[in-house]
Amino acid sequence: MLLRASDAPPEPPVDLDAFLARERARAEAGLEAIKDAVLDGAPPALRVPMAYALETRGKRLRPILCVAAYRAVRGKEPPEELWGLAAAVEVVHTYSLVHDDLPCMDDDDLRRGRPTVHRVYGPTGAMLAGAALIPAAVRVLDSRAAALGLSAEVRSRLAVELCRAGGAAGMVGGQLLDLEGEDKPVDADGLERIHRGKTAALLAASLRIGGIVAGATDAQLAALTLYGEDLGLAFQIVDDILDVVGDTEALGKPRGSDETLGKCTYPSLFGVDGARELAGERVDEAVAALGGAGLHAPELEALAYYVLERHH
Ligand code: IPE
Ligand code: IPE
Ligand code: MG
Ligand code: MG
Ligand code: MG
Repeated sequence: MLLRASDAPPEPPVDLDAFLARERARAEAGLEAIKDAVLDGAPPALRVPMAYALETRGKRLRPILCVAAYRAVRGKEPPEELWGLAAAVEVVHTYSLVHDDLPCMDDDDLRRGRPTVHRVYGPTGAMLAGAALIPAAVRVLDSRAAALGLSAEVRSRLAVELCRAGGAAGMVGGQLLDLEGEDKPVDADGLERIHRGKTAALLAASLRIGGIVAGATDAQLAALTLYGEDLGLAFQIVDDILDVVGDTEALGKPRGSDETLGKCTYPSLFGVDGARELAGERVDEAVAALGGAGLHAPELEALAYYVLERHH
């Protein structure tokens, strides 16, 4: 007998805490596995701040999303080497945090619970260590893709994805608009544009990269992109909310930094409750995008609600 969707036995819900703990451990192992390759050839004065930035633990959400996207497309566990490839995205994210904290940007002293790279190694050390992480990430992405046996065409597509999302049309462009908007009126469309660039682009690329490795169809890739962009917007709205209502110790970064810098944020435009509501709408849209392409992705659904409810 054919089962209609509504007759299908209910899926066991993802145990989010256990899932995140397990996936974070794998993401850490993936990062550890590529660390020597990332640092390869760096003179000691560069190697030390690069290693400091990589070893300071964050949520590792981007590699987790990358691997979850692979599973959503393939419906099975990826080869272990995918975690090394996914870690390349985390390397780009890590560089972005090193530069984001610099005195010429957000001028923050605390990141992931430790003094920021420029506080320990000076602005020149932080600037160069951050810059060195960018080509290292692309190099490692490509070598891990080769180790996975991916074709030259797919390898080149992956590199383009990472560079495009991390560059002027994505994160770097968003960071510039974010800085330009300090102490100036920014409207809701302008703020969304900033968030799409500085945060959503790399999150979407994490998912697209996992999808491309898995051999996603165009429709599946389009759905992962929509999910990633909406999730990225929700993620940054929650980041803005936590900057108002969070706790410096739990966040591992200083609460109140946005207000000090005169940043336009979702809470500053819509209030904390209004911002929460908008983040919730984005998460619903993200999850709906997956269903629209027929992607069966309980992990991505669980991660979307985690983004909304997180405290750090
Ligand atoms: C912080 O990203 C920067 C933003 C894009 C908001 P995360 O909140 O993912 O930082 P870590 O990696 O967990 O430290
Ligand atoms: C930073 O946004 C986004 C990037 C690093 C690209 P924020 O400046 O809000 O990030 P936090 O709050 O310092 O982590
Ligand atoms: Mg910033
Ligand atoms: Mg910042
Ligand atoms: Mg912030």
